[in-house]
Amino acid sequence: MKMWSGRFRGSLDETADAFNSSLPFDSRLYKHDILGSIAHATMLGETGIIEKAEADAICTALSEIFYDIKSGALPLEGAEDIHMFVEEKLTERIGNAGKKLHTARSRNDQVALDIRLYLRDSVTEIKNLLKALCLQLIAVAKENYRTYMPAYTHMQKAQPTTLAHYVMAYAEMFMRDIDRLSDCRKRINVMPLGSGACTGTSFPIDRERVAQLLDFPTVTANSLDSVSDRDFIVEFLNCAALIMTHLSRFNEELVYWSTEEFGFVEPDDAFSTGSSIMPQKKNPDISELIRGKTGRVYGDLTAILTVLKGLPLAYNKDMQEDKEAVFDAEDTVKSCLTVFTAMIPTLHFKTDVMNKGAAGGYTAATDCADYLVRKGLPFREAHAVVGKLVLYASDAKKPLHRLTADEFRLFSPLFGDDIMDTVKIHNVVNCRKLTGGPAHRAVAQEVRRAERFLAKI
Ligand code: ARG
Repeated sequence: MKMWSGRFRGSLDETADAFNSSLPFDSRLYKHDILGSIAHATMLGETGIIEKAEADAICTALSEIFYDIKSGALPLEGAEDIHMFVEEKLTERIGNAGKKLHTARSRNDQVALDIRLYLRDSVTEIKNLLKALCLQLIAVAKENYRTYMPAYTHMQKAQPTTLAHYVMAYAEMFMRDIDRLSDCRKRINVMPLGSGACTGTSFPIDRERVAQLLDFPTVTANSLDSVSDRDFIVEFLNCAALIMTHLSRFNEELVYWSTEEFGFVEPDDAFSTGSSIMPQKKNPDISELIRGKTGRVYGDLTAILTVLKGLPLAYNKDMQEDKEAVFDAEDTVKSCLTVFTAMIPTLHFKTDVMNKGAAGGYTAATDCADYLVRKGLPFREAHAVVGKLVLYASDAKKPLHRLTADEFRLFSPLFGDDIMDTVKIHNVVNCRKLTGGPAHRAVAQEVRRAERFLAKI
């Protein structure tokens, strides 16, 4: 019999019951539900709303229920949702006192509390996974300050850079993701209990005490808003979606870098698979799957935005849909970060191919123009001169460093013999030592800053 069945004559249709039930997925919240109930019961006892002895009995039984669920002794089945499940078990175990737990509380503020408590933990876990990934990227960077490779714009070779600079670009994205999660946690970390079904309660509860017991710095300000607010879930899913965007971009690079045409990297046997028909194949499946799973996390975000867009105040059952989206996004982000972090140190970068690639495609052309600017030519004119020079070299099928200084002078008398040094790839890279640049010194500085940031996570 349902706890709410008093005003009903008939019982719930079996299909409707199964359809309505969230226990198959919200059972994940059992620990946080019990923690929240222990805090609520403690406060009810302290304020004298229930007897102190009753509160103690509730708290003891709740922790026993927690350990029984954890050990598997108490199977999670037979209730409408996790909140009802825990309360039913409590009442089975301690009788009348158990029936008092729900005083001054509704499932609406209870579920809002549970999901906030749950997300606080997952945000911390995801931040730690992001940190581990960044540390692996830093390790690659430290080995490759002088591994030259082309940087691309429009997927055309643009200017030379280093593998260290390249992987640190992704580390920056993942560090922003860490920051974004910390920011999102601030709005998760507000205590909604006491909002009741929608207008609070007439009992003299102590919301601040509950917040203190559960380590929340503040309580929510408006009961109608509290039970219908899922903004923090949208923010969390947005963080998750952006993490996936970053993972997907990086893995897309690894997919095409591992083609024969590019040949910048070879995935290790431990992180690639073969074909059922083509004996020669070695496919970057892990990278492709990470790229593919990005779609489902975008789906989770879109689903919740869509669920929320037409909801009037306050609680509506539509909101039960938030959980599966959160859990799916959380599981996906965690598994992708874990497998990708494990894969990073196994990647075989073909540094000779990268170094060679850095010099192709006239990537030193900007530096030839800059050279002329230093000799007094306005940049726009220098650009035009070097354009002609590149056309000449490309007709002659030679890279810039294979031309002679005299050939440079065919295009401008301002070119001295030192132009031959200027076009050397290591000089092109290492003269860019400004903050954010690819020079060994600049990237080493970026790495130190990143290490300092990560040490505080
Ligand atoms: N399982 C419900 C959810 O996840 C709990 C809140 C139910 N509240 C209600 N008024 N039916 O949203």
